[in-house]
Amino acid sequence: MRAMVVYDSAFGNTKLTAEAIGEALSGEYEVAVKHVSEARNSALTGLDMLIVGSPTQRFRPTVATMEFINGISDHGLAGIKVGAFDTRLTVEEIEANAVLAFFVRIFGYAAKPISKALVARGGQLAAPPEGFFVQGMEGPMVDGELERAGAWARSLNQAA
Ligand SMILES: Cc1cc2nc3c(=O)[nH]c(=O)nc-3n(C[C@H](O)[C@H](O)[C@H](O)COP(=O)(O)O)c2cc1C
Repeated sequence: MRAMVVYDSAFGNTKLTAEAIGEALSGEYEVAVKHVSEARNSALTGLDMLIVGSPTQRFRPTVATMEFINGISDHGLAGIKVGAFDTRLTVEEIEANAVLAFFVRIFGYAAKPISKALVARGGQLAAPPEGFFVQGMEGPMVDGELERAGAWARSLNQAA
């Protein structure tokens, strides 16, 4: 079985998370981990699982992440298990800034819109969208988050 993990990343944290997810899936799948700029829609042919992850930037996925997904045809993910994740600031950091906290409550994070867009193209959601925490804007990841990402990936695997 084949899985692809597609990520965008400004400072490397989402890349590390994508690699941890790829590693966790590698027991069951032949896994390719690709930066969004390298991911080709042709690679979707014969794929069993597609995971897409983005840093949360201004409450959303990056433009490149959504361009990749929007380039997939309406039923392009039919028969493919899908999952979405993001990286994001910690709750403590967000709550320390009242304005940011207000907008986060309204607009949320990147993983949910990614997940919705994958399902809209026919993907079969294998687990709820998930966020993994970074320290500050540039990271590194909060301790234990890469392990949590691996566990999330293994939960996708069980659903597959
Ligand atoms: C322009 C910009 C906007 C950001 N907006 C948010 C945000 O709305 N919510 C949030 O939780 N984190 C936000 N962050 C923090 C990013 O989520 C963090 O930089 C990212 O998870 C790091 O992952 P990366 O190293 O893969 O880029 C923002 C970061 C940048 C650079």
